[in-house]
Amino acid sequence: MALEELSSSSITAGLATSLIGRKVVYFPRLPSTMDAARLEVRRGTAEGTVIIAGEQTEGRGRLRRTWLSPSGNIALSIVLYPDIACLPYLVMIASLAVAYSIETVTDLKTRIKWPNDVLIGGKKVCGILIENKVRANRVDYAVVGIGINVDLKIADVAGIAATATSLKDELDRNVLKKNVIRNLLTEFERLYQLLPTGESIYRAWRARLETLGEKVAVTSGGSVLEGIAESVDETGALVLRQADGTLNRIVAGDVTLHHND
Ligand code: BTN
Repeated sequence: MALEELSSSSITAGLATSLIGRKVVYFPRLPSTMDAARLEVRRGTAEGTVIIAGEQTEGRGRLRRTWLSPSGNIALSIVLYPDIACLPYLVMIASLAVAYSIETVTDLKTRIKWPNDVLIGGKKVCGILIENKVRANRVDYAVVGIGINVDLKIADVAGIAATATSLKDELDRNVLKKNVIRNLLTEFERLYQLLPTGESIYRAWRARLETLGEKVAVTSGGSVLEGIAESVDETGALVLRQADGTLNRIVAGDVTLHHND
């Protein structure tokens, strides 16, 4: 199959949302959709605007990492103007929306690794980055960036085969990106409209986390904490119990599972 060419209209045709994706801007190539989304914010763009790139040359990930974003993958950012109380739920909404859309379009089973990596068979298929600006307890904007490995042949990229996967590698066939994106935007809107009450979102996200009850190492702010990932609270923080019984509440970090310990 020839590489699928995306466009704004190929995504908006048949998209039945009223907020998320009411404006879709497609660029064949961008440094990062996060910066293009922030530029849209400065121009006063409406909530729900989606920026999509065919490929990114300077895609970025959480914790200052780079994010590989060749053509064939999905790279998009969604502009939101949420109430400050809703901010913690964006991580949950984004990861659930990706998980649901992949399951709808492909029948593959997904899990979430705290806080928001979407996994298939224990390997990462999607990363999510949220950037926001808050002033005097008001959210100026939040940009939710989502990268999904769709057409990437993982074996072609050095060093990621043990930890990453793509829809194509899992299925051994091509998946139409526009179908995944339309489903994703629809699920995102459905969940976002449940706010400001986030209880059901929190419960669905917690139920899909693969991390809970496991022995883990969490890298956070330059230090590594080991213990049992006991729970997550409603703000999305991970509650880690160390061997001496101490409880730590971790708001950002990277989890490694210690399956064999
Ligand atoms: C991570 O797992 O570290 C998060 C990766 C987030 C990647 C997406 S791709 C679309 C958006 N633009 C970026 O530069 N990053 C996010």
